[in-house]
Amino acid sequence: MSEGRTTTVSVIKADIGSLAGHHRVHPDTILAASRVLAEAKRKGVIKSFYVTNAGDDLQLIMTHFKGVDNPEIHELAWTAFREATKVAKDLGLYAAGQDLLSDAFSGNIRGLGPGVAEMEFVERPSEPIVVFMADKTEPGAFNLPLYKIFADPFNTAGLVIDPRLHDGFIFEVLDVFEGKAVELRTPEEVYDLLALIGTPSRYVVKRVYRKSDREIAAVVSSERLSLIAGRYVGKDDPVMIVRAQSGFPAVGEVLEPFAFPHLVAGWMRGSHHGPLMPVGLKDSKVSRFDGPPRVIALGFQVKNGELIGPADLFDDPAFDEARRQAQMIADYIRRHGPFMPHRLGPEEMEYTTLPEVLKRLKDRFKPVEMGYKPKVKHESGEAADVD
Ligand code: F6R
Ligand code: MG
Ligand code: MG
Repeated sequence: MSEGRTTTVSVIKADIGSLAGHHRVHPDTILAASRVLAEAKRKGVIKSFYVTNAGDDLQLIMTHFKGVDNPEIHELAWTAFREATKVAKDLGLYAAGQDLLSDAFSGNIRGLGPGVAEMEFVERPSEPIVVFMADKTEPGAFNLPLYKIFADPFNTAGLVIDPRLHDGFIFEVLDVFEGKAVELRTPEEVYDLLALIGTPSRYVVKRVYRKSDREIAAVVSSERLSLIAGRYVGKDDPVMIVRAQSGFPAVGEVLEPFAFPHLVAGWMRGSHHGPLMPVGLKDSKVSRFDGPPRVIALGFQVKNGELIGPADLFDDPAFDEARRQAQMIADYIRRHGPFMPHRLGPEEMEYTTLPEVLKRLKDRFKPVEMGYKPKVKHESGEAADVD
């Protein structure tokens, strides 16, 4: 689309090293990245930016007029992460450079480690957006909230009341194992949609469009580090951009699903289910059992390509009860220790260090007569490893 007519919001994040293990980003790395973006703003490459952290992930929120997947913008983010990594290494921060899986930039940051969510739109006269950033979980963690925001009338009153939302939305669902996508329309295909996105480790809602005019409504980062690297690197802590108000769900409808701290995969060693706790920026850090998984929500207005804000939307007593529930759930589920369903299932544990441990037991298994021959449908997981 032609320059100037549309605005692009790019949220690009990476864990390039953190303070006190995986606890939180160090302020000096935020400064290093901000310097790179300030220079790019001065040169007119980007229009505006905001740098922050979600736990141990460095978050670059940028606006510009260059569209999504723009090589110059991706290279800028890459440079910012590289400069921040230098500081992380100087300070001896933990896992410095962790998410930068390649030494060289090759035109697109996707596939190199960082997570990317970008959307391009013609600005409405007033354009409120909410940027969600989560730590210690995976992109599919946004499946449930997105379903509620855009397809559940018990969450979003506008789906019933507002004629501009009443036609429903289109969900683009990505199969991250196969590299395929499918579009499903709501409300008419909600059961099919749920049949897929109820498996958030594999099926990730990538984008949501308004059905009446295919206007972009939401986008999620879908990069899964373990599937890029083929091994456990760190969790694929996701980000999401949602447009709100005037024909989209209201900000309050966009935030409402997070009043329920649903169970997500991630937490300690990327290997455990735990509640997703909504927090303000001051609590954007992880502690207990490297968690619990947290999400922040920053609200902005976008005006002539400029980011106005942010508003720290979960820094509000209205979410105290969700935080308290999350603590209770954390207490309860932690008591399972190394047992499922606290620990993830065998398919997801394939990408952790557990298979190395199981390999050591492999030769100690001896055949037994069970009286029947088991008919196993697929060979993945622990059973296959110890056969
Ligand atoms: C989860 C995460 C942490 C680490 C854990 C062990 O995404 O980053 O929970 O997995 O702290 O880290 P290492 O193996 O580096 O000691
Ligand atoms: Mg980390
Ligand atoms: Mg993280």
